[in-house]
Amino acid sequence: MNILGIETSCDETAAAVVRDGRMVLSNVVFSQSDLHSPYGGVVPEIAARSHVETLPAIIESAVEKAGFTWQDLDAIAVTCGPGLATSLLVGLAAAKGLALRLGLPLCGVNHIEAHIYSVFLSSAAPPVESVCPFVALVVSGGHTCLVRVDGLGSYRLLGQTVDDAAGEAFDKGANLLGLGYPGGPAVERASRGGDPQYVDFPRGRQRPDRIRLSNVDAEVCFSFSGLKTSLRYYLRDHPMAEGEDSARRLASLAASYQEAIVDALVSRCDKALTGVGCLAVGGGVALNSRLREKLSCLTQQRGVRLLVAEPRYCADNAAMVAGLAGVGRGVWGDAASELDAQPNLALTEMG
Ligand code: KG4
Ligand code: ZN
Repeated sequence: MNILGIETSCDETAAAVVRDGRMVLSNVVFSQSDLHSPYGGVVPEIAARSHVETLPAIIESAVEKAGFTWQDLDAIAVTCGPGLATSLLVGLAAAKGLALRLGLPLCGVNHIEAHIYSVFLSSAAPPVESVCPFVALVVSGGHTCLVRVDGLGSYRLLGQTVDDAAGEAFDKGANLLGLGYPGGPAVERASRGGDPQYVDFPRGRQRPDRIRLSNVDAEVCFSFSGLKTSLRYYLRDHPMAEGEDSARRLASLAASYQEAIVDALVSRCDKALTGVGCLAVGGGVALNSRLREKLSCLTQQRGVRLLVAEPRYCADNAAMVAGLAGVGRGVWGDAASELDAQPNLALTEMG
């Protein structure tokens, strides 16, 4: 089954062709980050307009790079949510139109589930069933959650952020440090050679009475808004000055800020890893090498296997969407043609 996937949930315009859920024949991503960087974050109206302008060419390129014509496709898969409503709508409209025009089945996919599945797109990755049950950490600009996976479609949310996502914390911190957007790669670059112990930023522990979600463990939840505020106060009380030492100071501040985010993620993973033999990690923040390093130490200590998505499948992409549909997940049939953009779609709500 050759599936064309379409992903427009945030600020990446992406299309890909994947065979039988595993073989990625093409994976085309256009990142809009240059358009949003003057604003220090994603501007929904700009994102949606850019998707409208670029999506047709990105889709054509994905089909062409797979060595395909339209007739070689067997189905169209698209992200329905969660994400920005106006961005999701562009992908959905394109997918519905193409499916109708080509007479192909349509499949609607959950974006968080696609991030979990992205770990298994690598040709070196084991089959999903062979590592179940496992814990998945999804860390991106919009989402931060820990999920127990007993099988594809069988998920239990263990914990999630109660405010900002980890990627958002990187983006906001980078903004305060004057490092530009997107913040994750900028903070990682700036922190090279810096001292991660320079400032002891908060690691966002949650008081159980502050978690409003039922069935999640406060010990496995995240909070990043206090971290960002504490960087703001630190900079107010210790302004960055010009001078010999300023570059080193910036590197140490960036390294300390990154360390706080990474430690928060790693300590929650430690708590979540009970009764499983594997931790799977996906999402844009999974590109962070300090996070990879510390998760690798943790999983070695715990005797648990670590699977991290390949770099090209970490940030938003459509291979994870087509891949997931290719293993039969998502909403198919008449229900798919009725699908609407679902900005707050929960992991367990679909398929
Ligand atoms: O998965 P993604 O492309 O989009 C969402 O689904 O949100 O993730 C984007 C996020 C951004 O917040 C970006 O700053 C972060 O991933 N990111 C990183 C790194 N590269 C991207 N965060 C930390 N370190 C990185 N190297
Ligand atoms: Zn994402």
